[in-house]
Amino acid sequence: MAMRFTDDFIDRLRDSNDIESVISSYIELRRRGRNLVGLCPFHNEKTPSFTVYPETASYYCFGCGAGGDVIGFIRNIENLDYIEAVKLLADRSGIKMPDADYDDSTANMRRRIYEANREAARFYHETLFTSQGQAQLRYLEGRGMSLKMIKHFGLGAAPDDWHALENHLTAKGFKRNELVAANLLRMSEKNGKKYYYDAFRAKVMFPVIDVRGNVVAFGGRVLDNSKPKYINTSDTLVYKKSNELFAMNFAKNGNDRKIILCEGYMDVIALHAAGFENAVAGLGTALTPEQVSLISRYADEVSLCYDSDEAGQKAVRAALLLFSKTGVRTKVIRLRGGKDPDEIIRDHGKEMFAKLLGEADNDIEYRLSLLRDKYIIETADGKVNFLREASRLLSKCDSLERDIYAMKLADELQVSKDAIMQHIAQAVKRDQNAKAKARLSEAQKSAQSIEKAIDPQRLKNIKVTKAEDTVILTLLNNPGFYSKLKERLCAGLFFTAVNNRLFLVIASRLENGESVDLSHISQFLTQEEMSAVAKLLANASMISNTMQECEDCLCVLETEKKNRDRQSPSDMSDDSFLALFSSLNNKDGQN
Ligand code: CTP
Ligand code: MN
Repeated sequence: MAMRFTDDFIDRLRDSNDIESVISSYIELRRRGRNLVGLCPFHNEKTPSFTVYPETASYYCFGCGAGGDVIGFIRNIENLDYIEAVKLLADRSGIKMPDADYDDSTANMRRRIYEANREAARFYHETLFTSQGQAQLRYLEGRGMSLKMIKHFGLGAAPDDWHALENHLTAKGFKRNELVAANLLRMSEKNGKKYYYDAFRAKVMFPVIDVRGNVVAFGGRVLDNSKPKYINTSDTLVYKKSNELFAMNFAKNGNDRKIILCEGYMDVIALHAAGFENAVAGLGTALTPEQVSLISRYADEVSLCYDSDEAGQKAVRAALLLFSKTGVRTKVIRLRGGKDPDEIIRDHGKEMFAKLLGEADNDIEYRLSLLRDKYIIETADGKVNFLREASRLLSKCDSLERDIYAMKLADELQVSKDAIMQHIAQAVKRDQNAKAKARLSEAQKSAQSIEKAIDPQRLKNIKVTKAEDTVILTLLNNPGFYSKLKERLCAGLFFTAVNNRLFLVIASRLENGESVDLSHISQFLTQEEMSAVAKLLANASMISNTMQECEDCLCVLETEKKNRDRQSPSDMSDDSFLALFSSLNNKDGQN
């Protein structure tokens, strides 16, 4: 990072980007006491462990350990570097960035890619209405696409030409390396000479626009039956296809918190044309946790609209599993009368699709019907096995659902409802036992593995770690204590790696009479260190911040330091050094 921002600038930025309202624009927050809680956008969860602390202008997730200030949040959620996050917040609140050359070539390249993509989208769209785009326009019209939809989605035509876009964009001042980085041009090298050519030629172009309105990628469809059907932008500095959904920029608004998730560009456009403006599609890859997370930001219910073939149903099962880890309700649309929504709407009208949407199975019904297909329920054996599995399935539902479906199944299969309820109760018990066990070991494992990876010493010496945490927290909350304590504070005092780095940053700020406000020190810290500070602040209410306690903790640290110094190999006899070695080797047995 070439430059630092002044505290003054950061103050203004923070004051005009209240953490509560910034975070609320991404996730739903509920008030809990003095703080706010919500579902963590950084990992999938059903119960909120993500907490926002207006008093310290920080956030911390007790589930995954992500934490920091408002800038850190933007960094994390928008996948930006520090300066870009500051810029975004400055833009958002109309604050002028300080003049300086940011010597940040990545941020610069990102900006150029966005600009190139926007220009390219304009070029493709305009070409659609020239002689070079005739075939593409005819293709779209042949598929029943209205002019209105073509304009709404900014569809376009890549001419049948190796250099049309290259010539257009270089004339506008774009450099070829920028266009290659945007994936708009390809480059090949022969005999040390570089050859550039347009990545998309003779294609119908679908721009992919992210939720902030940036053109981030393109899909280009061939005009005939040749393969591959689509050429897509591969990942660039501004685009990760596993993170985006086509048409989310439209679907996120006014959707009643419901989304229809389907498979392709054409399906999405047909659905929007028919008035289902909450339809989105993945971009030719299997649904990812990131996409699920994106949907959960804007919806409480998702209707899966996948092909009815084997591949489509496999995708449905995978999607149900991903969504089951979130609070988003799932429904499965069973397509009839055509292979995809595009065909169904074209051949049977939008009413037909509305009917299928209305009849969509919730995921219990869907899973039950899969089970029904698996067993021959007309036979006694088949009936027993079906009921056994169905009970296991219902054991995962709430009591009302259990009651309703047990009644339905009893009716359908002519068995008593009590017998089914009994089976369900057994399955619940088995489930609870297994889950409790799994949860415990899972939580222990994950918390430990995170700490182990970033700060292995923390777990080994709880007493020291606690003392360090307290000293750091005390300094953060009472910077005035520093002058009284500074004689006793020295770098070697802190044993664990992250605390040691935190201490160095804090002490050097305090030494210069500078503030240690979270937002002021954040530019000197890594994401991990920020999370560590946020965690300290999040747990702060449990630790009192008196001078006395801080001094007690310093005593602990000083004693520990003496022990460490004494044990350092340089001033040890050979014998005791060897003894230490063997005790290290036996460590497993001793702990
Ligand atoms: N896809 C892709 N590359 C391919 C085939 C498909 O990237 N070779 C992606 C596209 O995003 C496409 C989606 O997968 O929209 C679904 O594929 P498909 O249903 O085959 O495409 P449609 O968009 O429905 O195209 P069409 O109706 O024109 O066949
Ligand atoms: Mn299709």
